[in-house]
Amino acid sequence: MTNDRLPIQSEIDTLSFQNVAKGIEKYFEQNKTPSFSSAAPQVRLHEPTYGADEVIGAIEPLLTTRVTMGQKVEKFEQGFGEIGYKHVVSVNSGSSANLLAVAAVSNPAFEGGLRPGDEVLVPALCWSTTVWPLIQCGLVPVIVDIDLETLNIDLDLAAKACSPKTKGIMPVHVYGNPCQMDKMLALAEQKGLHIIEDACESMGATFDGKPVGSFGIIGTFSTYFSHHITTLEGGLCVTESADCAEMLRVLRAHGWVRDSSNKDHYCAQNPEIDPKFLFVNTGYNLRLTEVQAAMGIRQLPKLSPFVSTRQKNAAYFREQLEPYSNFFHFQKTTPKAEHSWFGFPIMVKESAPFKAKDITIYLNQAGIETRPLIGGNILRQPAMKLYPHRAAGNMPNSDLAMNNGFTFGNHQGICDQARAYIVDKVDEFMRRYAV
Ligand SMILES: Cc1ncc(COP(=O)(O)O)c(C=O)c1O
Repeated sequence: MTNDRLPIQSEIDTLSFQNVAKGIEKYFEQNKTPSFSSAAPQVRLHEPTYGADEVIGAIEPLLTTRVTMGQKVEKFEQGFGEIGYKHVVSVNSGSSANLLAVAAVSNPAFEGGLRPGDEVLVPALCWSTTVWPLIQCGLVPVIVDIDLETLNIDLDLAAKACSPKTKGIMPVHVYGNPCQMDKMLALAEQKGLHIIEDACESMGATFDGKPVGSFGIIGTFSTYFSHHITTLEGGLCVTESADCAEMLRVLRAHGWVRDSSNKDHYCAQNPEIDPKFLFVNTGYNLRLTEVQAAMGIRQLPKLSPFVSTRQKNAAYFREQLEPYSNFFHFQKTTPKAEHSWFGFPIMVKESAPFKAKDITIYLNQAGIETRPLIGGNILRQPAMKLYPHRAAGNMPNSDLAMNNGFTFGNHQGICDQARAYIVDKVDEFMRRYAV
């Protein structure tokens, strides 16, 4: 950890800090995010997840000027590890977590890792920065369609898509629904694939009682503003392997030796180079700040209640919208999995008498925000034309998700009235079609 800085000018005076804290609490009390108002109904995709507690936490490092990665980052990582991860390396976004994970596994110093030109299976329904790091690290994404029920990578198609060059798989646990990890592990074993789990939208989810992110060689998470917990921007890599964690730490900050557990060894081998600026690999600067970590520390205990609110909301939506299952595909939770409901994805069936656009316009006009499902079929994004990749056949299900899919908000800030309002508006829309 890089915390080798000069002593701070003055410690915070406890009494004046308590006054600041009281002021912040009062501010949040007086400016509470308005709960749902039937006079001016609005249901946003996201509401702020943090309050006075996190702001007070964030101010302390600003006051002490200990702002760059240090003890709070370490504490946040330890706290996150308690979910069930041996090593945790925090970074400044989920996209950075994906980049760092792929860079680590494809680094020349990573024994038996991915090498330039190797193929990596990835679902067509993913986020852009699930795929970009593969391309940026000289790997070739092999795009595989999703399973319509779970919205996750279709593992039968993934198995068929493997060539002798296929050396990895980068699944996404879409919207918080864990992939069928026992089947994926068997496939990885059979074909010799490294698994890098993009768990950026599935914090709090488990498969067979084990947290997502802990099945592959590395798992990644996002703590972006709207995610299950937030550090404003931020992310984490998790791994069971000490060597892998070492690689992640070195690449996270410049490739220098400072965060290496083998620091003494490297320094002894290079006595002529000042250890402060001794570089033992390439790297980036993807560090989280102390300010963000202070917020993260205060968010962590809220993860479990946040996830259960999302689960309760999802169960409510599923039950209330059941009468429309002739028109809608709903995401099915993978057997043996616990879903953490990042949103509530819906796909309008081709046979429905309306399009996704019709219902989303209707909901938007009623003050209910909606959005498409992740990046849609990534193959259809213009950026893909620029780089080598392989499509494992057609992508009918990912196309359906792109053309016919939408979600409204399903976050911890949605109260009972707000969720009832969403259902009322869907009912109202359906009455147009005499349903
Ligand atoms: C599946 C997936 N991967 C990666 C990311 C990137 O995370 P971030 O926005 O923190 O960069 C996201 C963002 O929502 C995502 O949904």
